[in-house]
Amino acid sequence: MIVLGIETSCDDTSLALYARDRGVLANLTASQLIHEEYGGVVPEIASRQHMRTLLSVYDALLARAGLEGDNLAGIGVSNGPGLVGSLLVGVGFAKSLALGLQKPVVGVHHIEAHVLSNELQGDALKTPCVALVVSGGHTSLYHVPRVGRYELAGGTRDDAAGEAFDKIAKLLGLGFPGGPAVQRAAETGDPRAIDFPRAMLGRHGFDFSFSGLKTAVRQYVDARPALTPRDVADVAASAQAAIVDVLVDRTVACARDRGVRHAYLAGGVAANRSLRAAMQAACDAAGISYHAPLLEYCTDNGAMVARTAEILISAGRDDRLSLDVFTRGAIVSWADSS
Ligand code: KG4
Ligand code: ZN
Repeated sequence: MIVLGIETSCDDTSLALYARDRGVLANLTASQLIHEEYGGVVPEIASRQHMRTLLSVYDALLARAGLEGDNLAGIGVSNGPGLVGSLLVGVGFAKSLALGLQKPVVGVHHIEAHVLSNELQGDALKTPCVALVVSGGHTSLYHVPRVGRYELAGGTRDDAAGEAFDKIAKLLGLGFPGGPAVQRAAETGDPRAIDFPRAMLGRHGFDFSFSGLKTAVRQYVDARPALTPRDVADVAASAQAAIVDVLVDRTVACARDRGVRHAYLAGGVAANRSLRAAMQAACDAAGISYHAPLLEYCTDNGAMVARTAEILISAGRDDRLSLDVFTRGAIVSWADSS
């Protein structure tokens, strides 16, 4: 059973083909570099770009896998949360394909797809677990008793972790997207050089807050006439350490609180080397098994959508033409609690 996954919730047009017994058959992403000029994603431009590229990415994907539309068992599409214009383009495309090919179509929650990106290397999600989804748009910590059941344990009160990386990169003149740029700059810096705030650390509950860190970085930068390359490296390393410390502390505390033995990372920020290493070390020390997706499946991709859709379609779901988009909201459980 081959399923097509369509991801257009933000600025990546990504399509993939997935089969349970064969894994990812093909995954193609057209990234919209044009947003670099603006230092962030411009929603209107993003949706127009999706419209321009979707059909050619679809054709190229099928050609790469040597397949035709008729070979598909069904179609899955991210229908939220995300940018409304971008989502509408993907969902409209998915619905017309489903109608033309007479195949089922399902809406996939983008954050659930990130969680399930951990299955793309072949192993089923080990549940019960906690899953930290950290990206440009989301920072949320879920307790997952099993696939299909999701309990939100904590979320960000202001900026998402990826947004914090992006804003800090902008303050340091490092370009967009900021995460990889901050990681690169941090490599030669001292993570203990500046003691940036670590909000919510040790607090009750599992929420996050990154706006104080962003303000502290801005004040640090504004207080100096110019930053040397050494300063930039130290600020990047120290800010990255502050973000990583909070993410790791909250995740391990949540796993302990819920009494689970597995912790998963997901989302664009899960590609961060320092976060992966720190999470691994903290989980080892706490006797928790740590898991993270392959690097290529951390940032937005069609493969995670196809994987999730395959589960939903196998369970008999077909959203047909009633499928609609939504812009915000936590993962909705679809499996019963037994
Ligand atoms: O999951 P994603 O592709 O899109 C959203 O759903 O938001 O995540 C993109 C975010 C951006 O904020 C980007 O700066 C961040 O992930 N990111 C990173 C790294 N690679 C991407 N953040 C930190 N370190 C990285 N290596
Ligand atoms: Zn995402």
